[in-house]
Amino acid sequence: MCGIAGYTGKKLAAQVIIAALKKLEHRGYDSCGVCFVNEKKLQVIKTIGKIHTLEQKIHSLNNKSTTAIGHTRWATHGKVSIENTHPHTDCTNRIAVVHNGIIENFREVKRLLTNHKFCSETDTEVIPHLIESYIEQGKNNKDAFFMAIQQLKGSFAIAAVFSDEDKIYFSQKHSSLIIYRSNNETYLVSDPLGLPDQATTIIQVNDGEWGIISSDEICLFDSNGKEKKPEVFTLNREISNLPDHFFLKEILQQPQVILSSIRNTIFFLDIENRIFNGVEKILLTGCGTSYHAALIGKYYFEKIARIDSHVEYASELAHHPELFQRNTMVIALSQSGETRDTVAAVKKMANKKILAITNVEGSLLSRLTPYKILMGAGPEISVAATKSFIAQLICLYILSFRIAAEKNLLSFSEIDRIIVNIVRTSHLLEKFLQRRESLKNLAESLVDFNNFFILGRGVSYPVALEAALKFKEVAYVHAEGLCAAEMKHGPLALISENTPVFFIAPEDNTFDKNLNNIEEIKSRGGRVIAITSEGINSIEKIAKDIVFVPFAEDLSPIFSIVPFQLLSYFLAVRKNLPVDRPRNLAKTVTVE
Ligand code: M6R
Repeated sequence: MCGIAGYTGKKLAAQVIIAALKKLEHRGYDSCGVCFVNEKKLQVIKTIGKIHTLEQKIHSLNNKSTTAIGHTRWATHGKVSIENTHPHTDCTNRIAVVHNGIIENFREVKRLLTNHKFCSETDTEVIPHLIESYIEQGKNNKDAFFMAIQQLKGSFAIAAVFSDEDKIYFSQKHSSLIIYRSNNETYLVSDPLGLPDQATTIIQVNDGEWGIISSDEICLFDSNGKEKKPEVFTLNREISNLPDHFFLKEILQQPQVILSSIRNTIFFLDIENRIFNGVEKILLTGCGTSYHAALIGKYYFEKIARIDSHVEYASELAHHPELFQRNTMVIALSQSGETRDTVAAVKKMANKKILAITNVEGSLLSRLTPYKILMGAGPEISVAATKSFIAQLICLYILSFRIAAEKNLLSFSEIDRIIVNIVRTSHLLEKFLQRRESLKNLAESLVDFNNFFILGRGVSYPVALEAALKFKEVAYVHAEGLCAAEMKHGPLALISENTPVFFIAPEDNTFDKNLNNIEEIKSRGGRVIAITSEGINSIEKIAKDIVFVPFAEDLSPIFSIVPFQLLSYFLAVRKNLPVDRPRNLAKTVTVE
């Protein structure tokens, strides 16, 4: 959720931390702060809102420190306020801490620290005070830090500084921290995106590990305090130039993403070529957009691979132990690979056959599961998911054909034909995106409406859910995604000229039924906007606005969702909304 950045080296820490926090701002952007170690003193600067404001505040200080920790916050415990903004310090202002995650036992810990003065409502603030309590007992910094983190329960990534050392202490439990070291400088971040562009070899801090970094050394310890040799990983980085809005840029990247997802899924299946042996049932899980992709995956698995499939919100899975049967393959979908509900659900599964489909190499989820596909979307910065959804669909689609081939429902060579078809889809999408300006006019005509229905049937029903989510989070309008047939069972009562109704009606076996539903809406005075396949003329007589998209059989969700991504974008820009960072949201939801 929150972003953490630490630096110790020879450069001005202010510049390094601000640059890193800007790259991490999508993780949380309620408030932000930094703590410098400066001539044996700590200097904490905080602000509500954007990193840019923090940058301006720091700029005027002319700070020469070369060791600092920074944080960008997504509020969990306590409102958005300066007091609740990280870094948090102890009573003597000698220890400062930034934290991502939740300290579950913070109330208990706080009760023990009776003689300490707390200034915030956060769980984080107990950490510097707890460390301080051990210093008061005569422990040195290292022992005090270790003793404190051993006492903390929950999920967290922590970075701490002491006024008397140019070092950064860190600890990680069920969260993420990454270290990068180059000539006489060391970086610590909660997400690889926060690293400088030249960082390619990194150290991943594993669950339960903690340590200390200085400009020329990394000391890593396991949860028992035993020193460990850090393992170095190579980071695959494809960070491209910054556009005005990541959201649009990521929508436009989708044709390329389709190709990377094909490559990654095929690569995975080449290695794990027996993964579906003996699998009788698929259980898919995820949250938000990943959950919607899972619903489409169910459709693929059942239609193409004829395999019984079930989808459950990750947050609900814990209450359904009956779903974890033998011979069930669990597929956990998560762009970030850090979503707390999804990670928690996976942890509860005794089932050994778990496949994670995630976008972040080395993410928590990918480290928990025996099988993993990197979906290949590349860094997704905008809080609202776009290209990761498309990548998930491609992975699931190919997997369904693979199962079908293993069940002799089609030949393995037919998968090649399918791949050619997906590549064609990528080209068609590229062309469609070139015509995106036409959707701007449609968005303009919708700008005064605040309520929408988005209807679909079959595979288009989950697309309607995803489309409604995009409208809500990016364009700040209420949109309800529904199965088109359900309208007459109640929601029809809300139809009037003030409630535009989108119909996702590709040319498939639900098309005729959709025509009937469109008539029902029209006869009640509703404005109908149809998203349908190119070449379908019958709809022209009954829908006021039509968006024609390429025909793509089972891959129709790709073409059906893109107009909604673009419409939500154009609406948000028109209304001057923060497209990449909608209010109250965070890119990575690391709380349950
Ligand atoms: O990283 P994940 O895919 O696990 O994230 C799940 C949801 O939090 C995420 O899809 C969220 O709903 C997005 N804001 C949707 O655009």
